[in-house]
Amino acid sequence: MARAYIDTIGMYVPPGVVTNQDLEKLMDTSNEWILERSGIQERHHVDGESTTEIGLKAAEAALAKAGMTADDVEYIIFSTIANDYLVPGGGAIMTKHLGIPGTPALDIRMACSGYLYGLQVAKALIESEAYNNILLITAEVQSVALDMTTAGRDTAVLFGDGAAATILKSTDEDRGVLTVVTHSDGRYAEDLMLRSPSTHDKPFLSYENVDKGHGRPVMNGRNVFKHAITKFPAVIMEALEAANIEKKDVKLVVPHQANLRITEAVAQRLELEPYKVVYSNIHKYGNTTSASIPIALYEAMAEGKVNRGDIVVVAAFGAGFTWGASVIRW
Ligand code: UT7
Repeated sequence: MARAYIDTIGMYVPPGVVTNQDLEKLMDTSNEWILERSGIQERHHVDGESTTEIGLKAAEAALAKAGMTADDVEYIIFSTIANDYLVPGGGAIMTKHLGIPGTPALDIRMACSGYLYGLQVAKALIESEAYNNILLITAEVQSVALDMTTAGRDTAVLFGDGAAATILKSTDEDRGVLTVVTHSDGRYAEDLMLRSPSTHDKPFLSYENVDKGHGRPVMNGRNVFKHAITKFPAVIMEALEAANIEKKDVKLVVPHQANLRITEAVAQRLELEPYKVVYSNIHKYGNTTSASIPIALYEAMAEGKVNRGDIVVVAAFGAGFTWGASVIRW
């Protein structure tokens, strides 16, 4: 039976670094507050680059590392909550950037869980033997939507820009993406949303709604936190059970990088050792939504923490709410 495995990951973050001290100059916040509540020290912000443009940089890095050219790509999955345009989605635009017109491209907009949904679709497409490789691009430019004043401080300090590209391939070996489980619950849509433009409104986009701040993300941080720390461990256990893998055999957990306190709470609830078994790099990038897991996986691999044969678990929770986990035999 064909299995899907992660062959290569490439990443790209824009060069502009915004430290907590930089934010102190823009809004009523402090390095201490941000560090203590989230673990974030700095994040990267674009200077004019769009989401598909940073996605392209990550894709080029992954293709070069894999020794492939864009022409080798059979299918693109593009995940973001920050598309260049509302229509068309970024997937089709990536075929233009990569010079591969005609290549199928699917858009995913499942927020922080986008990587999990992308893995799930890639696994199904490869296991059905419809495709031999998939380029899963996760790219997020969030800085342009943030309110960089005190009014927006609860989200402005958390989110960062960044991109990753994961090349999944087919193998006959007993390895790769063993299971992916995903969930969603729209009852909590308003706990993390960007309200406008919206089909609730006529016109779809108005100065009035922009003036009300509806073009900015709003978040009920406490409620997101509360759900995240219960859903993360539950979905990780669900994915392990589905894969018939015991928790003690897990080499590394790479959670979506939303908040260091969430990561620590997940490690504690699963009785795993933080920093050794549960990976974190949020201090450098903030929350890069669907790009955060592959960026963290990329860095964990570079640090020698992920090796052939290891059991690696990735998991996410975010807007929607959406959440999921995957068990991978590397
Ligand atoms: O990918 C999924 C996306 N999001 C998440 O995972 C976020 C989940 N939630 C969280 O990470 C946390 O809830 C936050 C980091 C967002 C906030 O931490 P908290 O401990 O839940 O703080 P809080 O929301 O209860 O706010 C405490 C206080 C408030 O002031 P009052 O009402 O107690 O006077 C806020 O106004 O902190 C204030 N505050 C800030 N102060 C300084 C909010 N943002 C800031 C800020 N700097 N940037």
